[in-house]
Amino acid sequence: MSALRHVLDIDDLGTEGLSAVMALATADPASLPPVLEGQGVALVFEKPSNRSRNSTEMATVALGGHPVYIQGHEVGLDVREPAGDVALTLACYHSVLCARVIDHGSLVRMTVALDAADATVPVINLLSDVAHPCQALADLLTIRQHFGTDGLPERTVAYVGDANNVWRSLAIASSMVGMPTRVASPVGFGPTDSDVALVRSFGGDLVVTTDPTEAVEGVDAVYTDVWTSMGQEAEAAARLEAFRGFEVNEELMKGTREGAVVLHCLPAHRGEEISAGVVDGPRSLVWQQATNRMHAMRGLLAWVRGVDVASLDRGGHQ
Ligand code: CP
Ligand code: NVA
Repeated sequence: MSALRHVLDIDDLGTEGLSAVMALATADPASLPPVLEGQGVALVFEKPSNRSRNSTEMATVALGGHPVYIQGHEVGLDVREPAGDVALTLACYHSVLCARVIDHGSLVRMTVALDAADATVPVINLLSDVAHPCQALADLLTIRQHFGTDGLPERTVAYVGDANNVWRSLAIASSMVGMPTRVASPVGFGPTDSDVALVRSFGGDLVVTTDPTEAVEGVDAVYTDVWTSMGQEAEAAARLEAFRGFEVNEELMKGTREGAVVLHCLPAHRGEEISAGVVDGPRSLVWQQATNRMHAMRGLLAWVRGVDVASLDRGGHQ
């Protein structure tokens, strides 16, 4: 049995947990026990979602559970009642609490309240301003499927764009498996010193630059995300200006290693952070990534509910 654990960012899994979730995500779904049978999974969304909501709902159903979608304004985190009280209430009905929040602190307050009450309900972050661990699981799964599970330390992923929630979780996940990463962002939009220290603390090499061409030189994968994240809409015009020259396009891709692939968490803005030719082109793995959100989520839900990968009858789909 793995411990019931909150997953606010990817490092909360630990290296063994990350490996176990990958194994559970690639196991034959029919081999997984219906560990959520008769149980609810709460999905609180303070921001819009397509992939996170649908993949989590379907992963819940695959494990026998019942997902309940809750819009943020219905529960009013720290507005209608404290985030801790929202969590304690949902824990009366659900065995997992998933949330997409405006403020990462809301997730922390939920876990503090649940832990203080000795509640055995894990909190899973479905995106905050700080982290997007469920996306990073799907990203890692996609990279492993494409390049193989061995030899990741010989591969390099370059992230071009805003060093945001998606970058942070991806960089930590990559570092946890020893895969080198690079990040290229305009001045003022790169990682903080503490982000860099955190990523490097897991042992993976991280190069930080303001030059996209330097970042992608000889890499195996190029990743990008929107320049204006949800909640930053008022900065959109300024960001469009600041990120000029950071589009992942055919010209930039010329610097990569032969066979290099393109990754994007989606939603994509064609003509901004990525060209239509690249996101819709033969190097793009974005739909594989989107599909993997569901496989990764099934693996994660199974893991937080204590499914031991060693007990499974293997024969997965990879
Ligand atoms: N990639 C991702 O999290 O997509 P959604 O915002 O649609 O959930
Ligand atoms: N960085 C983006 C990711 C969307 C999936 C955002 O936070 O809006």
